[in-house]
Amino acid sequence: MRNNSTIFHAPLIAVMSLSMLLAPGARAEGNRAASLGGHAAELEQVKRGYEIVPSGVQLNLAGKNRVLVGLGSYIVNTVGCNDCHTHPSYLPGGDPFMGLPEMINFQQYMTGGRQFGPVTSANLTPDGTGKPAGLTRAEFIQTLRTGHNPNDPPGQILQVMPWPTIGKMTDRDLAAIYEYLSALPSLPDNPAPGP
Ligand code: HEC
Repeated sequence: MRNNSTIFHAPLIAVMSLSMLLAPGARAEGNRAASLGGHAAELEQVKRGYEIVPSGVQLNLAGKNRVLVGLGSYIVNTVGCNDCHTHPSYLPGGDPFMGLPEMINFQQYMTGGRQFGPVTSANLTPDGTGKPAGLTRAEFIQTLRTGHNPNDPPGQILQVMPWPTIGKMTDRDLAAIYEYLSALPSLPDNPAPGP
């Protein structure tokens, strides 16, 4: 099986690396791939996204785009926002690194409070008006793209937060993250921050 699939994929890889050398060609290849299989692949991610919403987290789907919520869950819960934005990340007895069945700390899910020296991760749950981290969608996307929250003083740049990589996602992916975070329960900032 393994050998067969290697042989089968070899010409495909050759074609792909050739088109990578030619930037516009690579872009065309991406567009073609997206139109051929993109839709089905995304639906698979949406489905998985709903499966991996941490147990105990009640989503509020009223008025939300359900495809984007599912895609956003897929991204947020596989990329690792939880590692830094939920503190502690796991419930007592639910730390997978201790060989235990995972139980994400749903009570503080995405309420921030993890300290990195002088920097503390932000509460990403919706504020009283339903805006995650208090940001409109445009502000949210701008913050992740540039590392600068337009509500912060000029020149202030998010530290520790991996915006240089996360900010390279497509507009649709960032909008999906936003839609998912909008559907989370609104919670106060983590009352017990720590490292
Ligand atoms: C390595 C740890 C880490 C990871 C992983 C991480 N963040 Fe952050 N994030 C932070 C920290 C720390 C801050 C606060 C930075 C500061 O105040 O300078 C922050 C800030 C933010 C902010 C700005 C909030 C505001 O009020 O300005 C947003 C939005 C955000 N993170 C979203 C995300 C999302 C979405 C993910 C996952 C896709 C993610 N973060 C993954 C550490 C992280």
